[in-house]
Amino acid sequence: MSNLFVKKSISLLMSHAEDSEKNLKKTLTATSLIALGIGAIIGAGLFVRTAAAAAQNAGPSVTIGFIIAAIGCALAGLCYAELSSSIPIAGSAYTYSYATMGELVAWMIGWDLVLEYAVGAATVGIAWAEYLNNLLTNVLHLPPIPYEWCHSPFEMSVSGVHGIINLPALFIVSLLSLLLIRGTHESAIVNNLIVVAKVTIVILIIATGWHFINPANHAVYIPEPSVYVDHQGISHSYGGIMGILGAAGVVFFAFIGFDAVSTAAQEAKNPERDMPIGILGSLVICTVLYILFAHVLTGVASVEDFRTTGKEASVAFAIQKYMPGYEWLAKMVTIAILAGFSSVILVMLLGQSRVFYSMSRDGLLPGVFSKLHTKYRTPYKANLIILVLVGAFAAFVPGDVVGDMTSIGTLFAFILVCAGVIILRKTDPDLPRKFRVPWVPVLPILGIIVCAAMIYGLGWTNWLRLIAWLAIGMIIYFGYGIKHSKLQKH
Ligand code: ALA
Repeated sequence: MSNLFVKKSISLLMSHAEDSEKNLKKTLTATSLIALGIGAIIGAGLFVRTAAAAAQNAGPSVTIGFIIAAIGCALAGLCYAELSSSIPIAGSAYTYSYATMGELVAWMIGWDLVLEYAVGAATVGIAWAEYLNNLLTNVLHLPPIPYEWCHSPFEMSVSGVHGIINLPALFIVSLLSLLLIRGTHESAIVNNLIVVAKVTIVILIIATGWHFINPANHAVYIPEPSVYVDHQGISHSYGGIMGILGAAGVVFFAFIGFDAVSTAAQEAKNPERDMPIGILGSLVICTVLYILFAHVLTGVASVEDFRTTGKEASVAFAIQKYMPGYEWLAKMVTIAILAGFSSVILVMLLGQSRVFYSMSRDGLLPGVFSKLHTKYRTPYKANLIILVLVGAFAAFVPGDVVGDMTSIGTLFAFILVCAGVIILRKTDPDLPRKFRVPWVPVLPILGIIVCAAMIYGLGWTNWLRLIAWLAIGMIIYFGYGIKHSKLQKH
C-alpha cells in the first residue's frame, strides 16, 4: 500500500547528499552565490515586465507593486534561507518539502518548479528576442527579424501581422543549454562578468534617467480603477488596489531567481553560512535597484508609450525617444541586456536540471535525468530533455502568458516553502539550523498571505493555468512516480 505522505528523513537526505557530493563539484563561495543570485534575478522582469505591468495594470504605481513583491520575496527568502541552511542539498523547495510535507506535496512542488525554472527560462528567452531586434535595428542599423518569425502563433502585432514561431528565443535557449552541459564552474565565471555589466547598466539608467523624469507622467501615480482592453482584445484590471496587486504579481517575476541559489547548495563550499548570505544578499541589492528603476522608467515614458510603440524593448525605447544625447546608453543597454538575459536563462536552466536531478534520484522521474556526463559531470541528458521543453514554450507561447505562469507557479512554491518552515519547526525542533527565521510562525504566515494576495492579483486565467498544470503533474505522479519512488520501495 503506497503512502502519499511518506517523508524523507533528514538524515537520509544528508546521506544522499554525501553520496552525490562525490559527483557534483564544490566550487561556490558566498560571493559567487550572491553573483549567481543577481545573475538569476536582474533580467526580463525588470527590463520587460516592468513596462508591461505599468501598461496593463498599474501605471506608475508599479513601484508599489515592486514593494509588495519584495516583501513577499523577503519573507519567503528568510524561509528559504532557514531550510537551505539546515538541508543543504540540491533540489531547492522540492527537497525541503520531501522532508517536511511528504512525497505527494514534494512531487507537486517539483512539478510546479518547472513553471518557475523551465517556463521562466522560456520567458526570458522571449524577452531576449525583443532586444535582439532592437540590437539589429538601432545598434547595427539592419532590418529587423520579421514579426512572424520572432513571435508565437498566439500573438498579433498592432498592425495585424500574426506570429508563427519565435526563432531567436529558441536559438538562445538552445545555445545556453549546450553551454551548461560543459559545467557549472565555467558558466559561473561568465556569469560574474555579466552581473557586473547588468548592475552597472541599471545604476546608469537610474542616475541619468532621473533628470528626464516628466512630472506629467507621474501626475496620477495610482490610476483610478478601470478596465484596459489591449489591441488583441484581452482585458486587464487597471488601476486601484487590484491594479497594484496585479502589477505585483507580474513584476514578482523580476525577483525570481534568488531561490535558484538554494538549488546549488551542494556545490557551495560552506552552505550553512553562505546560503543565507547568498539568498538574502542578492535580494536586498535587487530590491533597492528595482524600485528606483521603475520610478525612473515610468517617469521618462508614458503608459501610452508602453501600450503602443514602446511595448517591446521598452527601456531602450524610452531612452531613445525621451533622453536626447543618450543614444549611446540605449545601445549599451541593449547589449548588456542581451548578455544579462543570457545569464538569467543559464541559472534557470541550471536550477531546472538540478531539480530534475534530485527527483530522478528519488525515483519520481526516470533515471536519465540523473545520469551525469563522464567528463563534464553535469546531468547532460536532463539538460537536453529540458531544452526541448523550454524550446517549445519559447517558440510557441506568448511572453505575457509564460511570464505570468512563471510568477504564479513560483508564488505557489513560495507558499509551500513558508509552510515547510512552520512544519519542520514542529516535527524536527532539534535539527541544527545555522539560520533561523525570527518570529515563527508569524513571518512565514505573513509570507503566505502576501504571496496569496499576488496570486489573487494575477486573475482567474492564470489560476486556471496553474490548476491545469498541477493536474497534469498529478497524472504523471500516479502514473509513474508513485510506482517507482525509492522511498515507497523502502
Ligand atoms: N528574475 C528574473 C528576470 O527578471 C527571472 O528575468
